[in-house]
Amino acid sequence: IVLKEDPSLPEAVRIRLNNKSIELGDESKKGTRVKVYGRIHRLRAQKHATFLTLKDGYGFLQCVLPAGDLTKNYDALLFAQETALVLYGELKKLPAGATAPDGRELQVDYYKVLGHAPSDLDAITNKVSRDQDAWDAAMLDNRHLVLRGENASALMKLREFVELAFVDTYRELEFRKVSPPAMVQTQVEGGSTLFKYDYYGEEAYLTQSSQLYLETVLASMGQVYCIEKSFRAEKSLTRRHLSEYTHVEAELDFIEFSDLLDHLEEIISKVVDRVLNDETAAGYLKVLNPDFKKPEKFLRMKYEEAIEWLNKQDPPILNEEGNPHVFGDDIAEAAERRMTDIINRPILLTHFPVEIKAFYMKKDPNDLRVTESVDVLMPGVGEIVGGSMRMDDYDELIEAYKKNDISHEPYFWYTDQRKYGTSPHGGYGLGLERFLAWMANQHSVRTTCLYPRFMGRCKP
Ligand code: 4AD
Repeated sequence: IVLKEDPSLPEAVRIRLNNKSIELGDESKKGTRVKVYGRIHRLRAQKHATFLTLKDGYGFLQCVLPAGDLTKNYDALLFAQETALVLYGELKKLPAGATAPDGRELQVDYYKVLGHAPSDLDAITNKVSRDQDAWDAAMLDNRHLVLRGENASALMKLREFVELAFVDTYRELEFRKVSPPAMVQTQVEGGSTLFKYDYYGEEAYLTQSSQLYLETVLASMGQVYCIEKSFRAEKSLTRRHLSEYTHVEAELDFIEFSDLLDHLEEIISKVVDRVLNDETAAGYLKVLNPDFKKPEKFLRMKYEEAIEWLNKQDPPILNEEGNPHVFGDDIAEAAERRMTDIINRPILLTHFPVEIKAFYMKKDPNDLRVTESVDVLMPGVGEIVGGSMRMDDYDELIEAYKKNDISHEPYFWYTDQRKYGTSPHGGYGLGLERFLAWMANQHSVRTTCLYPRFMGRCKP
């Protein structure tokens, strides 16, 4: 049978599936005749009708094909998950007792298949393997198909919203957006994670952080921020390290350390509010993390107190060598996450020792062993933000390059900031993937970006 549209039917209006303003028909009233493009999300063939759940990236719609010409043809036999098609019909209220997205369904009178799909998708995306690593690898190899699923797409939509919520919040707070370069010749966070490449015969790097460039525009732009990619050659595989990640960074001029801490709490709270106050975004979050609650006030804790806290636990939470923590230890990922999970609220962890922090960080004038630095720790993930006040004294900065074995020449433009009207200032970087792993309760940052990059994976 070749399907034909009945010319006596009213002309169909093209709608997206999130359009809820269309009048619905019922037994007594005809509904609007519409035309919808999309792909099959779910398929259920019954004796009296075939039910398709159509998706178009905006919403879902139940479509009913009464058994007959519409179901007994070659195209209908080949229907599969992801078949692309356009369907025509009348939008109707659901019969009593039935459930479907938005309480409506399309009584289909005509359709055209636009792109067939093989029927193996279920097998790929629901592959059950007892081996977690094999399962993870299969999911990553098929990321381009996994992204079509309900969870992955909800997460990518939430991600878009969160990124825009940062933009909106920065605008509300009068920060200006700039776009620093990704190709650079200076390191920010240590040489061991630099991605080096050949830049027309010169050594160059993919940026680890836009911080130094943000600092250079404070004088002309006021408070500034950027949302750009950062790159780290992380040579270990963890739940929260990527080789390429989205870095939300901001820099604040003429501030004290406490202003930076207040700002961090404010921006995170405001972004969370924007998600929760938006029906659509809150809907995605509900799918992903139904128990999410806006955090209460952040706990402020000094590094030194954290060391004591770790040692006071029963049994004590040990350092990576299996010993009790001592002042000067890096608090490793596992210990940090355990602490955050037990305390179970956001923590502003401050005043890290000079030796374990980056060269540019300002020392605490009241305790020269430590820096005016902060990490924001979130339950389930641990560190999502790293920030600090910046060393604003010229001589001290020159000394810091030396101490850290960094040649000062490539940094001439950064050092100049300390010559031309230096100022007390500070800023931070927030990993968008980690923020989302916290909000959407994801085990790893690998599911919170479109196509994760980490050691051993650069495809698809
Ligand atoms: O603590 P980090 O290294 O700080 C900086 O880069 C500062 N220069 C930022 C600034 O002050 N403007 O990184 C900041 C944040 C971390 O807290 C984490 O959320 C994220 O960036 N991050 C990573 N996310 C995913 N994969 C990685 N390999 C990451 N490394 C850092």
